[in-house]
Amino acid sequence: MSHSLIHRPRRLRRTAAIRRMVRETLVQPADLIYPLFVVPGENIRKPVTSMPGVAQLSVDQAIHAARHARELELGGIILFGIPEVKDPTGTDARNPGGIIQQAIRRIKTELPDLYVMADTCYCEYTDHGHCGILTAAHAAAMHRDVDNDATLEILGQAAVSYGEAGVDMVAPSGMMDGMVAAIRQALDHNGHSGLPILSYAVKYASAYYGPFREAAESSPAFGDRRTYQMDPANRREAMREAELDVAEGADMLMVKPGLAYLDVLRELRDRLQHPLAVYNVSGEYAMVKAAAALGWIDEERVVLENMTAFKRAGADLILTYHALDVARLLHNGGTGDP
Ligand code: PBG
Ligand code: ZN
Repeated sequence: MSHSLIHRPRRLRRTAAIRRMVRETLVQPADLIYPLFVVPGENIRKPVTSMPGVAQLSVDQAIHAARHARELELGGIILFGIPEVKDPTGTDARNPGGIIQQAIRRIKTELPDLYVMADTCYCEYTDHGHCGILTAAHAAAMHRDVDNDATLEILGQAAVSYGEAGVDMVAPSGMMDGMVAAIRQALDHNGHSGLPILSYAVKYASAYYGPFREAAESSPAFGDRRTYQMDPANRREAMREAELDVAEGADMLMVKPGLAYLDVLRELRDRLQHPLAVYNVSGEYAMVKAAAALGWIDEERVVLENMTAFKRAGADLILTYHALDVARLLHNGGTGDP
């Protein structure tokens, strides 16, 4: 016998057709940005153990991956360069013939319509693995830290050289104070006023970056990144970081990592009008892959649910190692039903 309930939300969940009609959040290939790790050499595909399906690629191989990204109509790709030689100031990052500049040039030549971003940070290029130049060595070597303002100078130089190579967007990820303003100024003074900046504005000092550091060979040789990346406990500070980057001229902002910081993403969405990106980081990817390999979760459904959660929380763009898989799923008649 049926009660005369007026409100029955289940009426709108009875079939796939009605669920599709009232679905509030959709994931599209154009929302996805695929990260690539580029290394010197030819014909190299060196798998990253803690990130099944991800490999370090020589430029020729990166072009194959980039072609897939294009064919699947992703939003774009983001490049990370791992140079042959690392040194204290990360020279290769601002070398016109450096690894990332070569990758940008060749990918943009082969695939001019593919949107190519470049992570703009020094940890992959320095021999100590920190995100910039270090302060002078003190008697107590433990106190060496990243020199903020000296790093701004070389960040601007790196960004300009990526611009010269033909990149479509630079994405500074080093959490230096004033990095957006410094990069904006360097770009503008060198004929790149049209090149946008996606700032990793809100980047936490997270254990979820572990597998990435294997992929990018960028673990700090000493200490950690807590003097520049944010304390995971802080939400208000994230608002301040974001406001500063907006004031400095960031075109888009990023929150990183993703899953553990959806509250921060939502709050930024409610406060700002800028497009927002989220980074579904290496540790998040590794956890999904590991559980899926053990048969403990349904990978496709979990991944689609995570992507939907990022968009529901307010992301316009998702940087994710799952990008090709998700796009394939969506193209193969995926309903987006997570
Ligand atoms: C470099 C950088 C990192 C990531 C993106 N850019 C690592 C770090 O800060 O140590 C992490 C990405 C990931 O974990 O997938 N600053
Ligand atoms: Zn860095």
